[in-house]
Amino acid sequence: MMSRMMPAAGATPKGANSEESAARWVRGMFGRVAGRYDLLNHLLSFNLDKRWRRRTVERIADVLARPHAKVLDLCCGTGDVLLSMESRRGALADSRAAIFGSDFCHPMLLEARRKIGGARLHSPVFEADALALPLAHESLDLITVAFGFRNLANYQRGLYELERVLKPGGVLAVLEFSQPTNRIFRALYGFFSKYVLPLVGGLISGSRDAYSYLPESIRKFPRPEELAHQMRDCGFSSVEFERMTFGVVALHLAKK
Ligand SMILES: C[S@@+](CC[C@H](N)C(=O)[O-])C[C@H]1O[C@@H](n2cnc3c(N)ncnc32)[C@H](O)[C@@H]1O
Repeated sequence: MMSRMMPAAGATPKGANSEESAARWVRGMFGRVAGRYDLLNHLLSFNLDKRWRRRTVERIADVLARPHAKVLDLCCGTGDVLLSMESRRGALADSRAAIFGSDFCHPMLLEARRKIGGARLHSPVFEADALALPLAHESLDLITVAFGFRNLANYQRGLYELERVLKPGGVLAVLEFSQPTNRIFRALYGFFSKYVLPLVGGLISGSRDAYSYLPESIRKFPRPEELAHQMRDCGFSSVEFERMTFGVVALHLAKK
């Protein structure tokens, strides 16, 4: 049975006793699994991760279609959302959107660069901490964050930073794991994430702690209603969310 608890203020991996040490742990952990990240993502989600990202891009397609839109895929990891947005943009006759990616984990960015090059694209990706972006105020039309937000050391600071760099009218899309709403499905999912994820993820990636952290961080992450509330508190409006796959993930959309 999943226990209810106060929503965490940020990621708290085991052993981390400050925001700095939490961020260091998260960066190191993603660095260790970068080479196997995509394989494990697809395998452990039964390929549903592709559908979740596709749906996200579908929901923000109107922003991509804005002429000269500036778009950041934050916590881009190996670049799947960025590539999905590029392919959507390619299908729009007159879109001149500029799509960038950023992440604070170098090995993940190397994977992203390799995939972007393989797709014969030139989308720039840069190394930056989501809590202190090297970007001007009000410079972006759209920010996407897929499965990255939960790992930030401080959610409130993250939201303020994203609000800072978005233009008025700009859109934030956060795709993140959540808890299934159905009691029976939640119990099955609880078993899968507590026992199967760490075992299979640990064996394939060689980093069992990464795949023990995953369910733990999902359990501690604010519920969709609470995250929507935090977004409004940080100045976002028109906040809405949709659950997918019985609530395994939730997509939040918000406007500055
Ligand atoms: C679970 S991966 C998600 C990657 C990708 N968005 C996807 O959909 O697969 C989370 C990513 O967030 C990045 N990340 C976590 N905290 C970050 C921070 N404070 N600043 C920048 N990137 C961060 C990690 O390095 C990692 O690449």
